[in-house]
Amino acid sequence: MKPSLRYADTRDAEAIAAIADSVLAASIALDSPRLRRILAQKRALVAAAAGEVLGFCDSFLTKNALGEPRLELDLLAVAPSARGMGIGSALVAAAVIRAERLGAANLRALVRTSNAPMQAICRRAGLARSQSVGSLNVCWDSAAPSAPSAARSAHLIPVETLIYSGIWLEGNLSQPALDAAEALRRQKGAELTGTVLPHGHAEAAELLRANGFQALGDYHWWSLTL
Ligand SMILES: CC(C)(COP(=O)(O)OP(=O)(O)OC[C@H]1O[C@@H](n2cnc3c(N)ncnc32)[C@H](O)[C@@H]1OP(=O)(O)O)[C@@H](O)C(=O)NCCC(=O)NCCS
Repeated sequence: MKPSLRYADTRDAEAIAAIADSVLAASIALDSPRLRRILAQKRALVAAAAGEVLGFCDSFLTKNALGEPRLELDLLAVAPSARGMGIGSALVAAAVIRAERLGAANLRALVRTSNAPMQAICRRAGLARSQSVGSLNVCWDSAAPSAPSAARSAHLIPVETLIYSGIWLEGNLSQPALDAAEALRRQKGAELTGTVLPHGHAEAAELLRANGFQALGDYHWWSLTL
């Protein structure tokens, strides 16, 4: 039976958590208020056949540094038994339509450089790969002082995803920028701060390490201008 796509709601929580656990090794607490909020927002898509959820794709709006709306293609996962049938591609195509409907200026996804299936899906959906490779850096609990500071070049984006709440940091990295991110993380009660640092910025990489960030691997941005 061909899977159909629909927006996830509370009845899908267990299936989404089970797929996230087995495919992404990510834990989603079923009783978390964040999960309830995300499902209530009708933003995550599921692919289901015969009443069984086979995959999901979450996406949400942020603003880029110019203040334009941008759709972030976040978690995407398909159960191993249902792969290679076009479900991942269909979920991404539906997210592109959602981005257009929401008036987003563009859509983007952060994809591991080694993730060939996801790269194939992005290419098929018309997304273009960034020239530079970036290292994803995440900090769960910074030692940085939390005093708010002026960091004009820092662009801070509070996010709630299915697996964490966090602050994304974009723009030029500096100690004031990291301090501002940490202050916002504490203010929001968010779990982590994350940033993607293009390769070749040794000083900024050292600054991140000194502030307790861990490098989690190499990624490309894939994006589509709408
Ligand atoms: C990525 C994922 C969602 C794809 O789901 P899917 O339903 O199998 O995707 P589709 O069937 O639409 O397409 C898979 C594409 O990957 C290609 N592919 C599969 N394995 C591949 C490999 N080892 N090397 C290159 N391409 C590969 C397929 O050929 C297909 O591309 P095509 O349609 O151009 O031929 C699924 O593999 C998954 O859940 N992976 C783990 C989680 C993950 O990586 N999520 C994305 C994080 S950004």
